[in-house]
Amino acid sequence: MRQLLFFSNNKNKIIEIKKIFKKFDLKLLSLNDLNISNEPEETGKTFEENAKIKSDYGFLKTGIPCFADDSGICIESLNWKPGVLSKRFLNNFISNEACFESIIKSTKKNSKQNAYFKTSISLTVRDNQNVIFNGKIDGKISEQAKGRYGFGYDPVFIPKNFNKTLAELNAEEKNEISHRSIAVTKLINFLIN
Ligand code: IMP
Repeated sequence: MRQLLFFSNNKNKIIEIKKIFKKFDLKLLSLNDLNISNEPEETGKTFEENAKIKSDYGFLKTGIPCFADDSGICIESLNWKPGVLSKRFLNNFISNEACFESIIKSTKKNSKQNAYFKTSISLTVRDNQNVIFNGKIDGKISEQAKGRYGFGYDPVFIPKNFNKTLAELNAEEKNEISHRSIAVTKLINFLIN
């Protein structure tokens, strides 16, 4: 059976991705399985660049074909930021609620409601040879933070053609439309063809 490394230490993501890969004749390994704890610095300016930094690093360290993802939210009223800095932006507030309040305030002040989530997956199969798969979900910032599912910015993001936030959708409902599942589906189609 062929091996593939998913360059992540995020337990929830690993469980989600391993579930999807169960159907395929591929042994999916994560950093934990290989006792790798070092990660390269994410110095890229785009999701694609950061995903490539991680998948190249994983391949270089192990010689196993490796994929990595990088995601975030881009908000119109914040000049389409925080983007690649999404994790740091949220962590800079004393609580998620304080961050949500600030986003909602700037959205109302600037009368700009649009936002999107994006995921880039990079697959490195040979030295410095990678393929990128992108997934995007368009939507808008909600008037209030709502919902108890999901993580990160889910409580303030309403997907296009929905009237609920992502945090009001359960995991299966979110998976049907999410940026991450769109990018993973493209990766799987590439691998099985
Ligand atoms: P990562 O690169 O997938 O770890 O995502 C970086 C950050 O973007 C996370 O820490 C979250 O704050 C945010 N983010 C990424 N994907 C999602 C999502 O599906 N919902 C909510 N927030 C997300």
